[in-house]
Amino acid sequence: MTDAKNAWERIEALESDTLTALFKAEPDRLSRLTLDVAGMHFDWSKTHLTSDLVAGFEALAGAMGLAAAREALFSGKEINVTEGRAVEHTAERGEGAPESVARAGHFHARMRGLIDAIEAEALGPIRQVLHIGIGGSALGPDLLVDALGRDSNRYEVAIVSNVDGAALEEVFNRFDPGATLIAIASKTFTTTETLLNAQSALEWMTEAGVEDPYGRVVALTAAPEKAVEWGVDETRVLPFAESVGGRYSLWSSIGFPAALALGWDAFEQLLEGAAEMDRHFRLAPLGKNAPAMAAFADLYYAQMRGCQTRAAFAYDERLRLLPSYLQQLEMESNGKSVTAEGVPLDRPSAPVTWGGVGTDAQHAVFQLLHQGTHLIPVEFIAAIEPGHPLDEAHHRQLLVNCFAQGAALMAGQESDDKARAYAGDRPSSTILLEQVDPRTLGALIAFYEQRTFVNAVLLGINPFDQFGVELGKAIAKSIESEGTDRFDASTRALIARALG
Ligand code: F6P
Repeated sequence: MTDAKNAWERIEALESDTLTALFKAEPDRLSRLTLDVAGMHFDWSKTHLTSDLVAGFEALAGAMGLAAAREALFSGKEINVTEGRAVEHTAERGEGAPESVARAGHFHARMRGLIDAIEAEALGPIRQVLHIGIGGSALGPDLLVDALGRDSNRYEVAIVSNVDGAALEEVFNRFDPGATLIAIASKTFTTTETLLNAQSALEWMTEAGVEDPYGRVVALTAAPEKAVEWGVDETRVLPFAESVGGRYSLWSSIGFPAALALGWDAFEQLLEGAAEMDRHFRLAPLGKNAPAMAAFADLYYAQMRGCQTRAAFAYDERLRLLPSYLQQLEMESNGKSVTAEGVPLDRPSAPVTWGGVGTDAQHAVFQLLHQGTHLIPVEFIAAIEPGHPLDEAHHRQLLVNCFAQGAALMAGQESDDKARAYAGDRPSSTILLEQVDPRTLGALIAFYEQRTFVNAVLLGINPFDQFGVELGKAIAKSIESEGTDRFDASTRALIARALG
């Protein structure tokens, strides 16, 4: 840890200039701070990273044992120390310990077999899929189907997560119970919201007169015995390994609705894209390593410049769900206050991740990014190929706006009228996809996973547990089972007023 302390001191002693000055002083800035990997162009040149800062973070990575941690991740070691588990989402895409890769292959084959059977109408004339899950059991599949399934006419997919009955009701109003398959997605198969929604969906089918509604249920879970106990036939349970974390699980059977809606080939391409990013992460030197470089910039702003948030804007309608996917990935992984050994952190952990869709966000929240007092590193995600056949003016406008925002944030603009002045020197990075296809999206999501991992390793925290979500769940359960006597006056009064 002394080495890490020294590395931080070295980073803290480094100065960076304004972005405009850095561009003037460093003619090679673009070549040093851009990278082309797996169908994507990454550009960190409009961040304050300098060669010295990158070297400082490389030294920190050495001190924190990033190379060994990375190998431990890919070789199935028990790196989720607080839960005593290996972390094996990369095995789902073929990059992991051989026995874990083989097990994932076996589970994928089972999933493919069920998809073939559904396509052959072995479960009846299925046209619609009601996927019920929450958190990692919903956000990933939702992103995949929304991003890639727009032109597909294979199956209509609805993803319901909220326990608010209005969410299910909306689907009940437009789905045909006789043509619907229910997919219950829950790693633990204990999540209250998911099981209640699943029960209500079954009742909806029963009330509509569907013969054998249980015969239309598929379970996606790491607890197959619980799914069977709940009533799902063993032949329609699609397991995945306990060592695949919920927010890292879209590669497993949790990705079932995407595989069904997009077709198996597309799902395989998604996995291959992710594997390509994994190999890059594993082999590329840190200064040319996309997840590492992105994490260095994250750490620079959170630790050196006091940034408490970072913002991701998708300049592509197909990626509109990416910011909410990233919120869970980054905040549930790295929103911790102690190290993996339980020692309180002496520095901030992950910033708040937020974001939205461009150009919409420009007309809503960009005011603060340009002129507010908070410094917020911004990430732009865009694609060169449009996702629609409309006049090219649409896509030109979209991309022109995206690039204009980055330039404006950096350059700013002077004015005698202070209300109209832009300070500039506000950082942004850009990820430009060749196209939004399964392979590239797989690589993009894997990039974010590995970037989150690098951030965690360099901070010394375990990104793979999430004990912070447990207390609220336990209190909610106890309100139902034990009443409210032990709560504060405010909570008791709210419960009494709303629930009687
Ligand atoms: O409450 C948080 C959480 O455990 C997430 O980590 C997870 O993705 C989500 O709930 C859903 O859990 P499950 O898949 O077990 O239903």
